Amino acid sequence: MTQSSQYDLRLSSRMARLGTETAFEVLAKAKALEAQGKNIIHVEIGEPDFDTPSNVVEAAVDALHHGWTHYGPSAGLPQLRKTIADYIGRTRSIEVSPDEVVVVPGGKPIIFYTMLSLIDEGDEVIYPNPGFPIYESMINYVGGKAVPIQLREERDFTLDVNELAGLITPHTKLIILNSPQNPTGGVMPRTDIEKVAEIIGDRNIMVLSDEIYSRLLFEGEPFSIASIPGMKERTIILDGFSKTYAMTGWRMGYGVMRTDLATQMTRLMTNSNSCTASFTQMAGIAAITGDQSPVGHMCAEFKHRSEVFVAGLNKIKGFSCRQPKGAFYTFPNITKTGWKSKPLADALLEQAGVAALSGTSFGEFGEGYLRFSVANSLENLQEALVRLDKWTKQNL
Ligand SMILES: Cc1ncc(COP(=O)(O)O)c(C=O)c1O
Repeated sequence: MTQSSQYDLRLSSRMARLGTETAFEVLAKAKALEAQGKNIIHVEIGEPDFDTPSNVVEAAVDALHHGWTHYGPSAGLPQLRKTIADYIGRTRSIEVSPDEVVVVPGGKPIIFYTMLSLIDEGDEVIYPNPGFPIYESMINYVGGKAVPIQLREERDFTLDVNELAGLITPHTKLIILNSPQNPTGGVMPRTDIEKVAEIIGDRNIMVLSDEIYSRLLFEGEPFSIASIPGMKERTIILDGFSKTYAMTGWRMGYGVMRTDLATQMTRLMTNSNSCTASFTQMAGIAAITGDQSPVGHMCAEFKHRSEVFVAGLNKIKGFSCRQPKGAFYTFPNITKTGWKSKPLADALLEQAGVAALSGTSFGEFGEGYLRFSVANSLENLQEALVRLDKWTKQNL
């Protein structure tokens, strides 16, 4: 509803440049249909359907009872920063000190703070497209120039390093990598990551390496560009708790970066959030240092579900889908349906009761695709397939 007032709302001009994450809008639309009595299968939102491991929940409750209910340092509690530094150091084979860690409410603020702290008007940022929509939104918001690099299906949705080389100009200030990737489930091979570092060479270009799905990799070991000699000081690693430990609603993530940049991001934290909730940070220590078997279980389950779901999608008229290599998304090609992505996603929600996302929610190069999350039970995923099959048979 629009507010009527004698006073015009005089928004800042930059608000017109802000994008969105459509998943939240489709979720709201699906909920509204449910309120009218419709049955909807939710395959739109990107969050694990598992519960947060019980040791983490218990640690938070314990922390609440022990007074971890006050402000803490803006960069995060020293004990959590140390835990994260050890964890990232161990898993990326690099030396990380606690003052290179900034704890923030979710992974998203690291994207925001990276743009705010590094990007001036006209600075170029190369980012994956289709990709997590907040990258493009934030680049535009701060007045940067968004330079998409297309992820192509025939390359299993990994970027073409030669194409990347052609996009770099003297104005390039930041390159965003995301592997395993949202929305395609693509994973950059180690050799490609090494080539990206080679192409950057000794140029003063920063890399935002979004590794939030690094523990949801179906085969092999994750590899970070920060592990390549000479790259650590030019890399901001984004990671967090949302996806790894099914903690999306807790709002806790972090960035690992050189200390001079960490100081600046800490200033942004002081100005915006003051700090991440203290008791959740105590639970974060339990998450990283506790039993890791729930993470392995969740990853195996997502792999299995995506195999079942992709096999089912490939039987549906007009759909063809590659097997994702990580995360919990499938990204079928729907061009043979003859429909554009957005109207198809809308029709599937309204007529078939399946809430999926249009590929264009992830940028212009997402046209021709839909994203289905497999973060739902196998039973519901099977039901989604039945509904898709029925709808396509009736409508195509
Ligand atoms: C690629 C990517 N980066 C960052 C995030 C942000 O995660 P968080 O919920 O921790 O803010 C998401 C969430 O969907 C994501 O898919």
